[in-house]
Amino acid sequence: MEQAIAAIRARTAISPRVAVVLGSGLGGFAEQLRERVEIPYEQIPGWPPSTAVGHAGRLVLGNLDGAATAVLAGRAHLYEGYTPEQVVFGVRVVARLGVRRIVLTNAAGGINPDYARGALVLISDHINLQGSNPLAGPNDDRLGPRFPDMSEAYPERLRDIAREAARGIGLALAEGVYAAMLGPSYETPAEIRALRVLGADLVGMSTVPEAIAANHMGLEVLAISCVTNMAAGILKQKIDHEEVLETGRMVRATLVELLRRTVPRLAAEA
Ligand code: HPA
Repeated sequence: MEQAIAAIRARTAISPRVAVVLGSGLGGFAEQLRERVEIPYEQIPGWPPSTAVGHAGRLVLGNLDGAATAVLAGRAHLYEGYTPEQVVFGVRVVARLGVRRIVLTNAAGGINPDYARGALVLISDHINLQGSNPLAGPNDDRLGPRFPDMSEAYPERLRDIAREAARGIGLALAEGVYAAMLGPSYETPAEIRALRVLGADLVGMSTVPEAIAANHMGLEVLAISCVTNMAAGILKQKIDHEEVLETGRMVRATLVELLRRTVPRLAAEA
């Protein structure tokens, strides 16, 4: 961790207040930053290289309308075989660099039948079904408490800020509960029916470890899912990773615009 911070500090003096993690096929936002410094993950000691298709793998630091911002373009997933600790490494590093609020984006399957492919949905809460937790093991008391509260893991205030930013571009943002699965296989229709009964509106394979680690360190989290496909069995069609990436490409410009308007507002109070 100390080596990672030293490697980043050697490249830039920027102290980001807000960070954005970009999910599958949702890249593009990093180009919005001015005076930006791009550091490939492999040049940061301890940072897990991302292997998933559609993930670029670099930390970008720069300025967005006056807001010092960090963008994590590409993330590590549990399904790639990384440990939970590796999955949250980047979040911990940017928190140590000064980040107080973090935006986690992801591609997700839509369980709630009110959603349509391509919708952007604010995550109001989560259900962790990944079978692991990045805080398991000895607690590092310098990062946060042994038993962190998760009763407001995705503060309503941040969702209000995002909705307000979205209104400016005529975009209505629904909200929902995100169920995190290990993956990498997509769910069966029976699993999706079960998740629906449990109260999930969205399903995906990321975000929750990062949200837990961020809450542990006292960061405020805003999470945005892109409904890249309807979840298994909701429609009479198979789920194809190409469809997921294709929807990501379709929605990318809207997401970039939403982030461009939301991040400076988050930074203003952070
Ligand atoms: N299930 C799990 N993860 C996903 C999905 C899905 O249907 N779509 C995109 N990520």
